[in-house]
Amino acid sequence: MVSLWRNLWFMCCVLFLGAGVGATFPSVLVRVINFLEKYWKELASNIRSGTVSDWITDRSCRDSVSTILGEPNAELADLIEHECSGQKSWQGIITRLWPKTKYIETIATGTMSQHIPALDYYSNELPLVSKVYASSEAFFGINVNPLSKPQHVSYTFLPNMSYFEFIEVDDDGETTGEIVDLVNVKLGSYYEPLVTNFSGLHRCRVGDVLQVTGFYNNTPQFRFVRRKDSVLCVYVEPTTEEDISKALARATVVLESSDLILTGFTCYGDISAVPGHYVFYVELIAKVNNGTNVLQLDNKVLVEYCCVMEESLSSLYRRLRVKDGPIGPLEVRVVEQGTFDSLMEFFVTRGASITQYKTPMCINSAEALKVLEDKVLARFFSDKSPPI
Ligand SMILES: *[C@@H]1O[C@H](CO)[C@@H](O)[C@H](O)[C@H]1NC(C)=O
Ligand SMILES: *[C@@H]1O[C@H](CO)[C@@H](O)[C@H](O)[C@H]1NC(C)=O
Ligand SMILES: *[C@@H]1O[C@H](CO)[C@@H](O)[C@H](O)[C@H]1NC(C)=O
Repeated sequence: MVSLWRNLWFMCCVLFLGAGVGATFPSVLVRVINFLEKYWKELASNIRSGTVSDWITDRSCRDSVSTILGEPNAELADLIEHECSGQKSWQGIITRLWPKTKYIETIATGTMSQHIPALDYYSNELPLVSKVYASSEAFFGINVNPLSKPQHVSYTFLPNMSYFEFIEVDDDGETTGEIVDLVNVKLGSYYEPLVTNFSGLHRCRVGDVLQVTGFYNNTPQFRFVRRKDSVLCVYVEPTTEEDISKALARATVVLESSDLILTGFTCYGDISAVPGHYVFYVELIAKVNNGTNVLQLDNKVLVEYCCVMEESLSSLYRRLRVKDGPIGPLEVRVVEQGTFDSLMEFFVTRGASITQYKTPMCINSAEALKVLEDKVLARFFSDKSPPI
C-alpha cells in the first residue's frame, strides 16, 4: 500500500497548496477525497510543522512533498482541522476546504459519469467542466460550452490538429466500412475517428464511438458515446460501456432514496455456472455516517437496485433474462470501503499511471477479481425478470 499512500499524500498536498481542484478523471478525485477523510489529521499536522511524516520513507516522494509543503503553515492547518473535524457528513467538503472553487475540472463523460453523484455530493454540485477531448494519438477538440452538464458535453473538433477521418458505425454498433472526411459527417450519425497525426501515425483507430451533435459554424461537434467494443457478455448479448453507464445512472435514484452514494464500481460476466450472470461490485458510503463508517445495508433497497439496473439494460439482455433463460439474475456485491483503493494499488503496481488511473468498467483478470472478492461484505440478486 505504501506507494499508493505516497501518491495520494502527494495529491492531497497539491490540492491544499496548489492552484485548483481537478483531476484528469473523477475516479481519482473521489479516491483522493476518501483518502483525505481518513488522513486529514496527519496531513494537517504535516502542514502545521512543514515536515513530512516519518513513515513516508520513499526519497523522491519526501522530496516532492517537502517542496510543496514549504514553511510551517499553522493557518492552513487550522483551517483544515476546523473544516474536517466534528462533521457529521462530508457533504460539500470541497467547497468548505476550497471556498473559492468555482468548478471542478475533470472528464465526467462516458464511463466516468458513474462518479458524478459522488462529486456532486462532495462539491455541493459545483459545475463539472470537461474542457478538451484528447488522447495520446491526437488532440481532437474543445468544449465550447464548458458549463454544459456532463451528459450534454460535446467537443468541437479542431480540423488543423490532425487529419481526421471517420468510420461509420451503424445502429447495431457495427462499423460499416464506409469512411468519410470531417466535412462529410452527418448530424445524429455515429462514427469511430481515424487519426493521421503530424508524427506520421497513419490512420490509427482510436476505438471511441462518437455521435455528431451539431456544428460550430461549419465545424462538426461530437459527443463521446462509448468505447468501441462490447465489454460485458455472458451469452450473446453485446453490453457496452454506455449500457452499463445508463443502468448505473438510472439506479442511482434507488441509492439516493436510502442516502447512499456509489464511490466505486466495476463488473464482470460470471460464466463459471450456467446460466451466466452479471456481477456488479459496488463500494458505497452513507451520506451521514457520523465518523463510524458503518454501512446499514437494506436488503429491499439493494434488491431493488439490482432490478432497476436490469430494467435499464438492452432489450436483448432483457429478452434473454427471462425465467430459466440463458442469463441469470444480476448480482450486486457490496465491498468494504477502501476496496477500490486496493484495486487501484493493484493496477498501479503493475504499471498504471496514478494520475491517469481509471477504474476499469469491467474486469477480466483473475488476480484483480481476487482483490475484490476478498472484500465482499454482502451479495444481492435481482428477484424478477425485467419487463421486455
Ligand atoms: C502521434 O501519435 C503517436 C502515437 O500515439 C504519439 O506518440 C505522437 O506523440 C503523436 N503525435 C502528435 C503530434 O500528437
Ligand atoms: C490550430 O488552430 C488553433 C486555433 O486557431 C491554434 O490555436 C492551434 O495552434 C493550431 N494548431 C496547429 C497544429 O496548427
Ligand atoms: C451514529 O449514528 C448512528 C445512527 O444514527 C447511531 O446509532 C450512533 O450512535 C452514532 N454514533 C456516534 C458515534 O455518534
